[in-house]
Parts: sequence; C-alpha cells; structure tokens
Amino acid sequence: MRYRQLGKHGAIFSEIGLGTWAMGGQWAWGWGPQDDADSLRAIYAAFKKGINWVDTAPIYGFGHAESLIGRAVTQLGRENIYIATKCGLPWDDSRKVRRSLRPDSIRKEIEGSLRRLRTDYIDLYQHHWPDPNTSVLDSWGELVRLKQEGKVRHIGVCNYDVRLLLRCQKIAPVQSLQTQLSMIRREALEELLPACREHGIALLAYSPLQNGLLTDTFTPEKLAEDDWRRKDDNFNEPALSRHRRLVEKLRLIARSRNLTVAQLALSWILQISPQNFAIAGARNAAQALENAAASSTALTEEELRQLTILLQSG
Ligand SMILES: NC(=O)c1ccc[n+]([C@@H]2O[C@H](COP(=O)([O-])OP(=O)(O)OC[C@H]3O[C@@H](n4cnc5c(N)ncnc54)[C@H](OP(=O)(O)O)[C@@H]3O)[C@@H](O)[C@H]2O)c1
Repeated sequence: MRYRQLGKHGAIFSEIGLGTWAMGGQWAWGWGPQDDADSLRAIYAAFKKGINWVDTAPIYGFGHAESLIGRAVTQLGRENIYIATKCGLPWDDSRKVRRSLRPDSIRKEIEGSLRRLRTDYIDLYQHHWPDPNTSVLDSWGELVRLKQEGKVRHIGVCNYDVRLLLRCQKIAPVQSLQTQLSMIRREALEELLPACREHGIALLAYSPLQNGLLTDTFTPEKLAEDDWRRKDDNFNEPALSRHRRLVEKLRLIARSRNLTVAQLALSWILQISPQNFAIAGARNAAQALENAAASSTALTEEELRQLTILLQSG
C-alpha cells in the first residue's frame, strides 16, 4: 500500500480508503441485504493490507455503519485507524432526513457519531452536502471550532462546487474535498481538481467504481429488489449498456496487465493526480483485498494516454 499526505500538513493516509455506505444495511438508500459479519471481515482485511482509513457517515443505515466501525475500532485499536465521517444530514424520530449544517445541529450530530464510533475524536470531519439555509461562516466556522476544541483533527467538505469550496478556504484551510470521480463520471477533473491542486486540498474520489459498475463481476441481475442502484440512471438503459461496453474494453486493457477492471479503475484515479485518494466501497473481504491491491500498480504514460482516448471516445 502506498500513502499520501492528506492535503497540506495533513496526516498520512493510504491512497485507497475503505468506503462503508453499503455497510449501513437496509434503508431507503441501502444496497440490499448486507451481512454485518461480512462488513467486519471487509474492514479487517482492508487494514491487514495497509488501508488505514475508513469513510463513513451517520446517515449510512441511520448510524449502523458508524456502529460497525465502532466495533472494529475496539479490535484494531484506535491509534491504528483514521476515521472520516460527516455531518449535515440529520433525521427525526420518524427517520425523515433533512439537510442542516446549523452549528447546533452539527454539535448534536458529532456527539452521536463519537458515541457510535466509540472514540473521543474524529480524524476527518466533513460537511456531507451543502446547506443553502446556513451561511458558510456559521457551518464551516463550527467545524473550525470543533478542531480548536480537539474533537476533530482535520476538517473537509463533500459535494461542494469550487465557489463554496473557496469560500470555506478563505475562512480556514480545507483539508479535503470529497467528490464523485470515476472513469465514468469525470466532471471533477474540469474545475475541482485544479482548485484542489492550487490550494493544497486533497481530493477524495467517491464512488470510484461507479457503485460497482466498473468491476469484473457486475450484472444487473445481482441487484436486490431494494438496492438503491435500481433507481439510478447509470444502472438503467440506455446508460447501462454504454457502461457495460466500456467495461468490456477496459477488461482487455486490465487483463494485459494482470489487473481486474476494479483495480484499473482505482489505479487510474490515483495516477491522474498526486492530490487524489480513492474511497473504494467493499461489502466483503474479497472485494476489500482486490481493491487494496490496486495501490501497488503503476500505469505507464502510454497506458494513461490510451485510457484518456478511450474514455473521451465513450
Ligand atoms: N460524500 C458523499 O456524498 C459520498 C457519496 C457516495 C459515496 N461516498 C463514499 O464513497 C464510498 C465509495 O463509494 P460507493 O460505495 O458509492 O461506490 P464504489 O466504491 O464505486 O463501489 C462500491 C461497490 O462496488 C462493488 N464492489 C466493490 N469492490 C468490488 C470488487 N473488487 N469487485 C466487484 N465489485 C466490487 C460493491 O457492491 P456490489 O458487490 O453490491 O456490486 C461495493 O459496494 C462510499 O462507501 C462512501 O464511503 C461518499
């Protein structure tokens, strides 16, 4: 496993992190049935292979993914795991979710996260989604205060455009930006990546496997009835066939290098910029191991050039 510094003056994170959305289990944005034992095995396998951070959020299964990580923390030892979690999507007693980055709401959320994660500090605390009803001065200001108090070590944002990102950066340095980036969804390369480079902000690529499409084993039949992906345009026609044709072409390139499609997809993200980290979701130990192994791959300049042409032609 290779490691990179998380933005300017940040901790040293493995270039691949473990995503835990699917570990949240069954809920409105769940991925169908998920066995907790498989989730825990995925976490332990990932850490054995040198991954040193997990990305989670309270909303993943209404606290379920965070609670699982809390269990893993007691096994792995708090000092051996960096935890990235988020705030901004609180829910009420009937589990109705809203967006809020109000300082009082953030305070309430972090207490819940710390309890579930069985820790007294969070390594990377992130705004999950922008809240148009709260000024950045208040919402980002609250993360700055949490950092000053020692409850969080680093602070970052997710799903912010360049304008919002730079408004935060003006108030206090942003350690990381989490955004969607995969061989299929490459919009972040246009403005966000250059802005991150310029300001020394780490770019954490989420859904780098395009939620499982960019792998060797995906078939639409494997989606459970209540898997959120059934509702996603990428998993429905006409996009689905286009993506599957791309995967066929990627498979040829991957095989010529003894890689899987997932490994090629992760390696591409890591090699297009030293700012980048990939958060790869995994539902079992085999997936976690395969994804972690992508870190030891190096694509040549020529391979990267060919991939650019292939992706742009799609
Ligand atoms: N900040 C945000 O707003 C935000 C949004 C989305 C995600 N995230 C974070 O980013 C993480 C990663 O994104 P993601 O989970 O959406 O998608 P992803 O990493 O692109 O794909 C993960 C899914 O792909 C399949 N998979 C993983 N490794 C595989 C392998 N080696 N071979 C075959 N299939 C494999 C698994 O699902 P199946 O086996 O069921 O196909 C897995 O759940 C999330 O878990 C979360 O922590 C953050």
